[in-house]
Amino acid sequence: MEAEKKPKSKSWCLWFFVLVLAAVVVAAASITLRKDLDRLKSKNSHASVHPGAIVARYGDALSIAMQFLDIQKSGKLVNNKIAWRADSGLQDGEEENLDLSKGVYDAGDLVKFGFPMAFTATVLSWAILEYGDQMKAVKELQHARDSLKWITDCLINAHPSDNVLYIQAGDPELDHKCWERPEVMTERRPSTQANISYPGSEVAAETAAAMASASLVFKKVNSTYSKNLLRHAQELFRFADTYRGSYSISIPQVQNYYNSSGYEDELLWAASWLYHATEDQLYLRYKGNCLEAPNLVLLSRVNFFGRKDMSGAENIGLQMYRKTAESVMCGLLPDSPTATSSRTDGGLIWVSEWNALQYPMASAFLALVYSDYMLSSQTSTLYCNGKLYNRMDLPNFAILQAEYVLGNNPMKLSYLVGYGSNYPRFVHHRGASIPVTANTGCEDGFKWLNSTDSNPNVAVGALVGGPFVNETYIDSRNNSMQGEPTTYNSAIFIGLLSGLVRTSSVVRDFT
Ligand SMILES: *[C@@H]1O[C@H](CO)[C@@H](O)[C@H](O)[C@H]1NC(C)=O
Ligand SMILES: *[C@@H]1O[C@H](CO)[C@@H](O)[C@H](O)[C@H]1NC(C)=O
Ligand SMILES: *[C@@H]1O[C@H](CO)[C@@H](O)[C@H](O)[C@H]1NC(C)=O
Ligand SMILES: *[C@@H]1O[C@H](CO)[C@@H](O)[C@H](O)[C@H]1NC(C)=O
Ligand SMILES: *[C@@H]1O[C@H](CO)[C@@H](O)[C@H](O)[C@H]1NC(C)=O
Ligand SMILES: *[C@@H]1O[C@H](CO)[C@@H](O)[C@H](O)[C@H]1NC(C)=O
Repeated sequence: MEAEKKPKSKSWCLWFFVLVLAAVVVAAASITLRKDLDRLKSKNSHASVHPGAIVARYGDALSIAMQFLDIQKSGKLVNNKIAWRADSGLQDGEEENLDLSKGVYDAGDLVKFGFPMAFTATVLSWAILEYGDQMKAVKELQHARDSLKWITDCLINAHPSDNVLYIQAGDPELDHKCWERPEVMTERRPSTQANISYPGSEVAAETAAAMASASLVFKKVNSTYSKNLLRHAQELFRFADTYRGSYSISIPQVQNYYNSSGYEDELLWAASWLYHATEDQLYLRYKGNCLEAPNLVLLSRVNFFGRKDMSGAENIGLQMYRKTAESVMCGLLPDSPTATSSRTDGGLIWVSEWNALQYPMASAFLALVYSDYMLSSQTSTLYCNGKLYNRMDLPNFAILQAEYVLGNNPMKLSYLVGYGSNYPRFVHHRGASIPVTANTGCEDGFKWLNSTDSNPNVAVGALVGGPFVNETYIDSRNNSMQGEPTTYNSAIFIGLLSGLVRTSSVVRDFT
């Protein structure tokens, strides 16, 4: 039987923290040169800002990557275009008198973990908010919104009353004892809640972030829905903040799957999204400890785009976020004095064997977003410990990461399934590995994990875990370390590709 102990993680906090520290140490020496930089900035401030040309290659990759979110859908499907998928998980939540049938299966398994699912929704919202125009240009905007709503519909139902949030549908212990298609599941799928006595601040805050960001996406599309999302987001944030406690302490079983090292970063992340969604300064003044990179970039947005009603102290606080975000960017640029050495020879950011691509994809997405904030606010240079860098170095870094994933690597392998002709054929994914006509169930289904034939169903759009640091990849179905796709990796990659669809992007106010 498969012992699927997977050190999954969506927390980049620690790694980015190291990047920031390295940069901050040297930042002290840099202050004298700032003045020159500011002079240079004002000289260049007449650069014209208009959207660039469409890059077909990234548009195609985006359309492919988007399909993975369809493959992962649970519930009663609407306009299903995946031939080997059908309705499933229809009873999820029923034991609790709830409808938790929608949402997405997490990865190669069939559990709906609330924490990474909420993160997926937050990133997808962010991608739509920054790059919705570009998604539209390649006819993927509606698709992206539909995929997002499929998740937020589930998150709304998972929050049936104040101070109660269902954080999971399906039992990973039971689920991992089976190798089956979602359509034929028969094992019990209990739902688990966090509440006042068993709080879960990180998962409640991440869900609040998902709903606050999604409320912005739907603001003009469906204002009733948008307001409903915002109400849930505010209420969940209150729950997370008032009843503080880590869900992996309240509900220790989650430690084997998505363990949490703390909730400070998620609280601050939720507060930042709620600030963008409400413009209520109270959320902006909310203080947290962990300077997680995505949040630094999101908060520096406020500084780049400026607001007239900010006090001097608030502006200084925001400037600090922006400078720290700039330090992170310096760590990513390959030839900056503070460049991180966590890279493969081919230049791919590489931090961990498990799910290796989450770090380079997140780094690339953030670098691209940051560079677009620079462009839109007509800032043409960044400054790394005594050296000036051109804004364009950031998208060039992002392109290098994306190109690596799309096949520009020593193995000439595309890590995006369905892109090009050479991509993994043994993806660690239950639905993809079992023929639709198979009559196997839970345990006998493991013969499909064992099978030496390539997957009968192609999980088009799956972004697999990624290469070893020596740039090799073992295409074997039980290699979940390298070969298991996740929805949150996909969301980040979708964000990155949407940003690259045009040679330059114009980002605007969210509201
Ligand atoms: C798959 O890998 C796991 C973990 O490495 C191992 O315990 C299990 O026996 C393997 N299963 C098969 C069918 O090879
Ligand atoms: C609160 O959550 C815990 C942990 O999931 C659960 O065991 C308990 O039954 C819940 N409390 C209520 C009143 O449902
Ligand atoms: C807005 O969303 C709600 C909830 O999903 C839905 O019932 C309604 O039909 C939507 N309205 C429009 C105009 O799309
Ligand atoms: C989960 O994380 C906590 C805090 O970082 C740690 O103490 C605990 O050992 C971890 N649990 C597992 C199963 O790794
Ligand atoms: C799959 O392989 C594992 C490990 O070799 C074995 O224990 C198990 O019986 C096999 N299962 C099936 C259904 O073939
Ligand atoms: C690459 O690294 C992996 C994991 O550390 C190792 O198993 C493999 O043998 C290495 N391959 C080469 C060609 O060095």
